[in-house]
Amino acid sequence: MQEREVVLEISGLKTYFPIKTGIFKRTSGFIKAVDGVDLKVFKGETLGIVGESGCGKTTLCKTIVMLNSACEGKILWHDDEFGSIQLPTKDKKQLKHIRNRIQYVFQDPQSSLNPAFTVFGAMDDALKVNGVKSRKERRQIVCDLLRSVNMREDALDLYPHEFSGGQRQRIGIARALCVKPELLICDEAVSALDVSIQAQVLHLLCDLKNRLGLTFLFITHSLSVVEYISDRIAVMYLGRIVELGDTDDLFQNMFHPYTQALRSAVPVVDDSQRTTRILLSGDVPNPADPPPGCAFHERCWRCMPECKVETPKLRSYKVNDKDYYVACHEVHEKLKDKENETNGNK
Ligand SMILES: Nc1ncnc2c1ncn2[C@@H]1O[C@H](COP(=O)(O)OP(=O)(O)O)[C@@H](O)[C@H]1O
Ligand SMILES: [Mg+2]
Repeated sequence: MQEREVVLEISGLKTYFPIKTGIFKRTSGFIKAVDGVDLKVFKGETLGIVGESGCGKTTLCKTIVMLNSACEGKILWHDDEFGSIQLPTKDKKQLKHIRNRIQYVFQDPQSSLNPAFTVFGAMDDALKVNGVKSRKERRQIVCDLLRSVNMREDALDLYPHEFSGGQRQRIGIARALCVKPELLICDEAVSALDVSIQAQVLHLLCDLKNRLGLTFLFITHSLSVVEYISDRIAVMYLGRIVELGDTDDLFQNMFHPYTQALRSAVPVVDDSQRTTRILLSGDVPNPADPPPGCAFHERCWRCMPECKVETPKLRSYKVNDKDYYVACHEVHEKLKDKENETNGNK
């Protein structure tokens, strides 16, 4: 199989938030929002990251775009122009380059657009900084972008409050695209929208990806949304990746009990497709005080004695001749023969 080009490489990433208590604001512990993530993002793919609310998806993405700082681990960006850039960087040229290459679409389109700026105003500065001197040219670029996200050109001089939620999200996407990014991080980009509008925006994103050859990191809590849009899916639980594979392989196998539980929560139209409903009891554990061993063991119906003591490693297997990763003691036991020799290389 041909080696795929890696654009983003994350290894051993940990992002902890200190808990400050008392009048002297002493650090009494840490919220382990991201607790050892290894991940590669290939050029041109859509990688979906799925997991319940609070499992660290947003923190992971914000660490990539330097809005949160990591306390351990490495993030590398690879491209032809600069070679490899380690993030975060302080080099001004690299910083400007990275801020154009990686763009973020936020969950809530209402609060991510400044109400004081028109649509043109929201994108004008970014275009100026990137050297588009003539105002006429800048207006033309914004018009083209609006058309590419299926909006009318007369939206150019309107303010965010004059649009519906779906339109605002499309403006958010247009704004992210105005600096010609390579990687678009969509953090729950459709979760705040009505179901019918969700479908429209998802369709638009797929279309843009094909037309512009973008790479997507698509974050959501819904397995059905990632199934629709992703080439590969990573399932996250309490700051760690517990299962990762090609979308088809993942849906065919679903080795990890947490993935199975997420799948069983997706409503089905056809009753014959309904499998036994798995109801997860309780919430995601507190990331400030994670349970010992496997973080999922307290909610797992297949828990074995070693799960309570030892944290399972994310191991690599060959499934349908492709790399597939799982972190579960029971699955490790079952898949022993399929283990990959290049284990550890995510
Ligand atoms: N700035 C912050 N300060 C302290 N704790 C935070 C901060 N941001 C996120 N957290 C905590 O980190 C954990 C993961 O949050 P988040 O990354 O937003 O999860 P998700 O996006 O998967 O819902 C949560 O327990 C959240 O309370
Ligand atoms: Mg989030």
